[in-house]
Formats: sequence, structure tokens, C-alpha cells
Amino acid sequence: MGETISLGTVQETLLIPLYGRARDARHRSSVLGDKKAIELVEAIDYDFSKFRGPSLAGSVLRASLFDEYVRGFLREHPDGTVVDLGCGLSTRFDRLDNGRVHWIDLDLEDTMALRRRFFQDRDRYTMVAGSIFDTDWFALVRERPGPVFLLSEAVLLYFPEEQVHATLRRFAEEFPDTALAIDTGGSMMMNSQDRNPVFQAVSARMQWICDAPATLEPLGLRLRESRTFAQPQPSIARTWPLRYRLAGKLFSRTAPVTTYKVNLFTTETA
Ligand SMILES: C[S@@+](CC[C@H](N)C(=O)[O-])C[C@H]1O[C@@H](n2cnc3c(N)ncnc32)[C@H](O)[C@@H]1O
Repeated sequence: MGETISLGTVQETLLIPLYGRARDARHRSSVLGDKKAIELVEAIDYDFSKFRGPSLAGSVLRASLFDEYVRGFLREHPDGTVVDLGCGLSTRFDRLDNGRVHWIDLDLEDTMALRRRFFQDRDRYTMVAGSIFDTDWFALVRERPGPVFLLSEAVLLYFPEEQVHATLRRFAEEFPDTALAIDTGGSMMMNSQDRNPVFQAVSARMQWICDAPATLEPLGLRLRESRTFAQPQPSIARTWPLRYRLAGKLFSRTAPVTTYKVNLFTTETA
């Protein structure tokens, strides 16, 4: 009998990318090589087989796009601080640790309690129970060495636009001149959720529709770049297995590819 879990509705969605990474790790030509995800899937008592469809591979490619933004930050600021807001059971710190970065992984109480069964705080690595919408964790981030890289992967999508905008505006005010990576989904993708097999297996639904990431600039952000599955950073495109590069091209005009974006912003200078 594996570890039993009890997670809130949005929190449960963390099991989708976890399973996606585990399946990827079992593949001969893996993108992320996340062996720990295999270990977690085997340890958790949950029917992962109900997750099917292209979103599993999508969550792997998404993680790869985010990873590359973090790598770019660490090349310039190897001693900086990375904050992953809504980390789930991500192994990003293990993938990208350069031996110098300071790292904070934040997620809600129930997710963090699950995470703590499998991960420990370490030198330069801290897990925090809290919400992306709260401000308590700001002080912890300020105690760490700068500059700071804020990222939030597949989290804000689940919340109403008003709440997301208020949060982004607060980040811009509280963390000026800071890199921020977030993903956005356009209306075509959001309106087809019910047909997506992974969403047929959970009750959470995404709410925040953003057709053009540049429209977020008035919140105090500058859009540096946006990536889709068909246009990954050239440095990682070379490392993606041919099946994904071909699929990106083949499906380059479909909603999940054109309207789902992984975006890099900087907040305005104070
Ligand atoms: C789809 S999962 C993504 C997890 C992780 N970022 C990944 O890509 O593997 C959504 C995550 O958002 C987290 N979450 C939901 N509401 C949150 C909040 N208010 N603050 C922080 N995290 C939240 C959930 O616990 C879950 O881990």
C-alpha cells in the first residue's frame, strides 16, 4: 500500500505533471530525466492511469521551457534566488542546482505536507507552506541573496483574472526589476478543457484566460519573450526528442500550441 493522499481540488492537478514527468523518465529519449518522479508515482497510492492524452507530454515540455528561463537567470546570477510559487512535487531544484543558487519552493499547506514526505530542506533550499496570493513569504525572499527570479508554472491559470492581475501588480510593486516567468492560456485552449482527457479525470478547471501576454504590461511588467511548444528556446529545441519537435510543427496551428505560452517578464524598475 502506497502513501495515501488528500489534496484540495487545484492541488490534485499537481499529480498530472508528476505522472507526465515519470512517463517521460521511463522513455529512452527523456526530456527531463526525472527519475525521482518515477519513485513518487510508485510511492503514492493514486490511480495515475486515468491521466491520458497530450497534456502529459505538454507538462514535460512546459517544465523544460521554464527550466531554460531559470538556467538563463542562473548563468547571469549564479548566486541569486529562485522562488517557485506552486511547486507541487516538482524536482526543478534538483535539476538546476548549480551549487550556489538559493531556492524557495512554496505551495499550499496540504501540498507542502505531501511534499515534505519526499523532500527535505537543505542548505540553500527551503520549502514554505503558503499561498501565492499571500504576502507572508515576501520577507523570506528578501532575506535571501538577490537578484530574485520568481516563477509560477500552471498555477495562476486556475484562478480568476481579477485575482491574478492583483497578484501580478503586487509582485511588480514589491519586487521591482525582477524576472518573472508565468504561463498563460488563450481562450481557444481554455474553452476546450472539458474535451481534454486529463481534465476529464479531475474536477479542477482553469479560469484565467489571457490571449495576449503583452496586455499584462500595464500591471507593471515588461514582456521579454513568450515561448510556445512550437517555438522553444533554440538551446533546448536541440535537446528535445524528434517526436516532440515534429509534433510541435505538426500541431503548430492547434489551440494548445498557439495559445498556451510560457512567458518571461521583468517587473518595472522602482
Ligand atoms: C498543475 S499543479 C502545478 C505544480 C507544479 N508547478 C508543476 O508544474 O509540476 C498546480 C499547483 O498549484 C498549487 N496551488 C494551488 N493554489 C495555490 C496557491 N494559492 N498558492 C500556491 N500554490 C497553489 C497546487 O497545490 C499545485 O501544486
